[in-house]
Amino acid sequence: MTVDTATAAGATSRDDAGVVLPVGIIGFGWMGRAHAQAYARIRHHYPHISPVPRLMVIADEVTDRAAQAAAQFDVPSTVADWRQVVDDPTIGAVSVTAPNFLHRDIGCAVVSAGKHLWIEKPVGLSAGDARAVAAAAADAGVQTAVGFNYRNVPAVAAARELIAAGGIGEVTHARFRLFSDYAAHPDGALSWRFQRDRGGNGVLGDLASHGADLVWFLLGEIDSLVADTAIFVAERPKPTGATAGHQLASGGERGPVENEDYVSAQMRLASGARCVLEASRMSVGAQNSYGFEIHGTSGVVRWDYRRMGELEVGQGSDYQDLAVSTRFVGPGSGDYAAFQPGAANPMSYDDLKVIEAARFCESIADAGSAVSGSGVADAGRAPSAGATIADAVRAAEVLDAMTTSVREGTWVSPASMR
Ligand SMILES: NC(=O)c1ccc[n+]([C@@H]2O[C@H](COP(=O)([O-])OP(=O)(O)OC[C@H]3O[C@@H](n4cnc5c(N)ncnc54)[C@H](O)[C@@H]3O)[C@@H](O)[C@H]2O)c1
Repeated sequence: MTVDTATAAGATSRDDAGVVLPVGIIGFGWMGRAHAQAYARIRHHYPHISPVPRLMVIADEVTDRAAQAAAQFDVPSTVADWRQVVDDPTIGAVSVTAPNFLHRDIGCAVVSAGKHLWIEKPVGLSAGDARAVAAAAADAGVQTAVGFNYRNVPAVAAARELIAAGGIGEVTHARFRLFSDYAAHPDGALSWRFQRDRGGNGVLGDLASHGADLVWFLLGEIDSLVADTAIFVAERPKPTGATAGHQLASGGERGPVENEDYVSAQMRLASGARCVLEASRMSVGAQNSYGFEIHGTSGVVRWDYRRMGELEVGQGSDYQDLAVSTRFVGPGSGDYAAFQPGAANPMSYDDLKVIEAARFCESIADAGSAVSGSGVADAGRAPSAGATIADAVRAAEVLDAMTTSVREGTWVSPASMR
């Protein structure tokens, strides 16, 4: 492969496969792996996309982990220090899949080096962190993508279209839940996720951030909210070695859990609709129980992540005793057609990351023409639009508003967090 272009934003190169976008991944835990798999699969599902991403370097402070991943994914180079990825002029785009406390420093460094950025949610520990990355990306004129993968679900795109078309009338009230049990075991290791200076606000950034993005994606701006939070397990065992994902550790010294296990928020939306968002990392018996139920003046739409391809929809003029039926989403919805030819073939979590990667690469291809800057524009964008750093800032302001509401015991406007 020869490097023949180093554009103002994101170096590309050319080989037999055409124009190549050399990419790096920083942090190779669960999400690093998901991003690597997504880059590898883009051509299978989106053959028109050019430049084609090619993973050239993996950075992880756990060097064995990086080396194993490089062998598995046929990646030529690994480094322990993420700064080497930032300083490499041949790399055009970077995935930041390291823990939350590193998002701001790494994200700002990546974009300031002129590289396009695909960064995991929540983008730092606070709205201030997300705003810093957004400002640096705007200054650099690079493209950004953020890991709000649930908006990529074709059924969620279909729900958005249905609601926007008035298919359930005026939205009156809605409920979003994100229940998981990854921290339900009292011996779940005290990883970075449970520390405020490394994981931020706990389940707020981990799960409620997805909910905040979905509320906006489906229903629009949140006008104000009042929230409550709780920590249910006060201490957890300290891990004895490097962690990845959600591991158990028992017997050793225990340390304090510093951030939230649970959050609930009542919201008033700008549309006038009312909304409840609830998220927990300690929901015993609930594994990835994510979903929403949205009621309108004449109908309802419900979705459950665990039955990703199905929408429950009730419409009509019955009002009372309205029949609700299950729709299997098919090629007409979102990016479904890139994966399956007919309805009711189940898609997977990993497919959502392929969609995210594709939108990221499409934004890079479109840069300078239809799409500009860091993709901040909201109005008029396609229903299938991928999340950008602007969406991360918006979601982070909602989370900051929740924290402020808990501290002050009052209704808080996310806009006041700006
Ligand atoms: N979009 C989603 O659905 C989703 C799901 C899970 C996690 N996430 C987000 O992805 C990010 C990573 O989460 P994860 O579950 O993959 O975590 P993880 O703990 O499994 O992996 C983190 C990796 O980063 C590495 N790392 C730590 N410090 C580093 C440094 N200084 N330099 C290089 N590498 C370093 C660790 O060794 C580890 O391999 C978090 O921000 C999290 O919120 C998003």
